[in-house]
Amino acid sequence: MIPIQEYVQRRQRLLDTIGDNDILLVSAAQEVTRSNDTEYTFRQDSHFFYLTGFNEPDAWLVLLKEQGEAESILFCRDKDPTAEIWHGRRLGADAAPEALAVDTSYPLSELADALVQLLDGKQVMHFAMGHLAHADELVLAAMNKLRSAPKQSKVAPVSITDTRSRLHEMRLFKSPAEVAVMQASADISVRAHQRAMLYSATHVDNAFEYQLAAEIHHEFAMAGAHSPAYNTIVGSGDNACILHYTENSDRLTKGDLVLIDAGAELEGYAADITRTFPVSGCFSKPQAKLYQLVLDAQLAALEVIKPGNTLVQATNISVKVITQGLIDLGILSGELAQNVQEKTYREFFMHGLGHWLGLDVHDVGDYKIKTADATVDRPLAPGMVLTVEPGIYIAPDAKVDECWRGIGIRIEDNVLITEKGHEILTIKAPKTITDIEALMSLNKPSSTGNSERA
Ligand code: GLY
Ligand code: MN
Ligand code: MN
Repeated sequence: MIPIQEYVQRRQRLLDTIGDNDILLVSAAQEVTRSNDTEYTFRQDSHFFYLTGFNEPDAWLVLLKEQGEAESILFCRDKDPTAEIWHGRRLGADAAPEALAVDTSYPLSELADALVQLLDGKQVMHFAMGHLAHADELVLAAMNKLRSAPKQSKVAPVSITDTRSRLHEMRLFKSPAEVAVMQASADISVRAHQRAMLYSATHVDNAFEYQLAAEIHHEFAMAGAHSPAYNTIVGSGDNACILHYTENSDRLTKGDLVLIDAGAELEGYAADITRTFPVSGCFSKPQAKLYQLVLDAQLAALEVIKPGNTLVQATNISVKVITQGLIDLGILSGELAQNVQEKTYREFFMHGLGHWLGLDVHDVGDYKIKTADATVDRPLAPGMVLTVEPGIYIAPDAKVDECWRGIGIRIEDNVLITEKGHEILTIKAPKTITDIEALMSLNKPSSTGNSERA
């Protein structure tokens, strides 16, 4: 759990970046219609949640500095007994200061007029224009009101500065409390993947991809994570070659692999794990060879995941391992250097090695930074959390030996950069061939006693 004091500190850090007589605005998300008069499950805007921990739609955070004095104001939905009977409780402006440790709070119905007053005469407005359309609309309306009323001595802020880069930098480095939540989210997700492996082993030829997804989501919910952090991917057979396959509609077939990319969202923080395993619990020879290659690439990349090195360095290492392995298996031909230079591996490994992870599954933060004389790949630093997720995907119509066609494999872990190197938050999810086969054989109704690979 993120302590309330940490939200206060985050707001203070942002306030430290604004000048006297400046104003900073952050809007919450709005509900999104799913069908007619029903909505999708509400998901708070990550910036707003990072600064408030408040999970209601239609709220605003205003930070001000006037004559050196800082103030935090929250606008939130008006209390409304009828709406609360139909749709749910509302915190309300009276309770907000104590609940969220803000200085003052007002009902949302006062926002439009208050915004005109608050912006009047300010020097700089700090705001992420273009981030949320409904917020842009409100802010522009207030600005235009001020600009069209000079005779009433009203003055709009002189300039607008984007808040995003500051928030992205803050969010990129996780605090100990954030790491603890992300570890909990990772632990839940690990158990969910194990559960899916066991379900598959005991329901060979009798399970659908969406049923494995249901096993995963059951484990999330029973462990306190209300929802997945992104749409769960369960791709069996050649569906695994579709990187973001979410139909999850096919029946699993004995002899195939199944790729599951699923992570829980806990207190807003995402886990993002991929495991690939045999539907029946036992890898065939070609599956095992390709699987070991992806694992070798991941382990080689992880060796350089530490402070001072870059994600690009790790990517280059994984590319070399995968390319050499594909040459050794006869899937690519020619020399390593030429294949790497011509990027022939992109037919089979077409995505990046990883990404930042946090409140968003593809979390915010620059991957390149500017130094005095150049833009360079960003060195990893303690507190960052990222995924490391190499993969090999051989399309069903690839011009390679038939035994490789239709195999898709990704192995994805969540990694915290520490002072000394890194810590794998998802280390407990089985990923060696031995560990996966051992887990999946535990729950089998009866063993054939035949461990020979086909
Ligand atoms: N789950 C999406 C990704 O791995 O990037
Ligand atoms: Mn990922
Ligand atoms: Mn993923």
